[in-house]
Amino acid sequence: MKRTEIKEALSLTCYGEKVNVRGWVRSRRGNKQVSFIALNDGSTINNIQIVADILQEGEQLSDTDNPKFTEESLRLITTGSCISATGYLVESMGKGQTVEIHATELEIYGTADPLTYPLQKKGHTLEYLREIAHLRPRTNTFGAVLRMRHHMAMAIHTYFHEHGYFYFHTPLITASDCEGAGQMFQVTTKNLYNLKRDKDGQIDYSDDFFGKMTALTVSGQLEGELGAMALGKIYTFGPTFRAENSNTPRHLAEFWMIEPEVAFIQKDELMDLEEDFLKYCVRWALNNCQDDLQFLNKMYDNSLISRLESVINTDFVRLPYTEGINILQEAIRNGHKFEFPCNWGDDLASEHERYLVEEHFGKPVIMTDYPKEIKAFYMKLNDDQKTVQGTDVLFPAIGEIIGGSVREESYDKLMAEIDRRQIPMKDMWWYLDTRRFGSAPHAGFGLGFERLMLFVTGMQNIRDVIPFPRTPKNAEF
Ligand code: 4AD
Ligand code: MG
Repeated sequence: MKRTEIKEALSLTCYGEKVNVRGWVRSRRGNKQVSFIALNDGSTINNIQIVADILQEGEQLSDTDNPKFTEESLRLITTGSCISATGYLVESMGKGQTVEIHATELEIYGTADPLTYPLQKKGHTLEYLREIAHLRPRTNTFGAVLRMRHHMAMAIHTYFHEHGYFYFHTPLITASDCEGAGQMFQVTTKNLYNLKRDKDGQIDYSDDFFGKMTALTVSGQLEGELGAMALGKIYTFGPTFRAENSNTPRHLAEFWMIEPEVAFIQKDELMDLEEDFLKYCVRWALNNCQDDLQFLNKMYDNSLISRLESVINTDFVRLPYTEGINILQEAIRNGHKFEFPCNWGDDLASEHERYLVEEHFGKPVIMTDYPKEIKAFYMKLNDDQKTVQGTDVLFPAIGEIIGGSVREESYDKLMAEIDRRQIPMKDMWWYLDTRRFGSAPHAGFGLGFERLMLFVTGMQNIRDVIPFPRTPKNAEF
């Protein structure tokens, strides 16, 4: 019989008709007369209940349309096992569920030994679940998070597609360090114990696969700019890699980034784009993920849904860095304690970002015009010669969710900055060519997909919003 997904089965009203569902057993309980199986197939957070009548002493096994099951045959239907269940759809008496299935046939696809199956009881800690990341998608929490992850990816592609952007694929293996922070993972086919060296003892990469030193990309932006200088509006959406040794709840060594790049826009339009895009994504979550959101709101964070609603209904604050520093210093004068200093020129720590967003303004902040020393080389220099046109978005509970900027389009100014930072020209000639041939004002940003996921799910740790997190000392699964 054709399988019906549980999400669909739960909405059926054709009582008395036969349906077939397949999935993983969440629990089985009952008594001597009847067994109740809660079945989940991942299509929805909701389980469907399968009711199996148990053959009583003296009764005969029959193959009528209302068969009973021996206790022995139900014994292997334990938590974690996978079954196919066929039966009549009946209106449910139990509270909270609309339909259930009165079983006529049960087939076991795979058993799960109750003594060793690690997901026995409900309420495992998130820390424990990280150790069994291969099985945690079967929990309610990770089912909800992973379905939402899919929906947010669809939101992103839909937004850009509907707004005339082209999905542009930038390389994952690269020879340039976009952010200039030196946090790259090298890519090599060389035998690391037997590296060829030149006469000065330097590694000779001419011998290596690409003939030069290469690494996994930290950002697709530089190539994205090349796309925007031809197609007008592009976006990337792919994995990025950073070897930053920061074991925090907001950093991954492998994360997904969305990077739109747009020709002919200026700072205000860039901020409009950042705000409009984020609101679209959050609205999408509210419109498409209600069941999962209700669950996460109930189990983890009862202000989640109201926080999402407040973000789409509020204007983001647009705040120059210098004013932000003034607010933070004022807070310090009024007795607020921060762990890290925040004088003009310092990179803000997440405690500072969160103070501004959560305590001072109570809404998202787009911070602009940062000191050039704390930002990457490609940002457009302001007339004051000290600040650059960065436009980071700071979010409640997250801190920095987007890093963006207007790009320096002047060849001379960009070249001067590359020189000043001693960035090797051999890595940059092709990027500079965009400024030599038909340069144009342009701007873009990068959204950390998992930071967005943290926001829309209310989860606290970035390791819990990606199926298989990569962090320092952790590449299991
Ligand atoms: O601020 P970042 O470093 O900006 C760039 O990479 C630019 N090239 C983007 C652009 O303008 N096209 O990173 C962008 C965003 C951050 O705001 C943050 O959300 C996320 O990427 N991010 C991380 N997310 C998870 N783990 C990490 N280690 C991250 N580092 C950055
Ligand atoms: Mg940043």
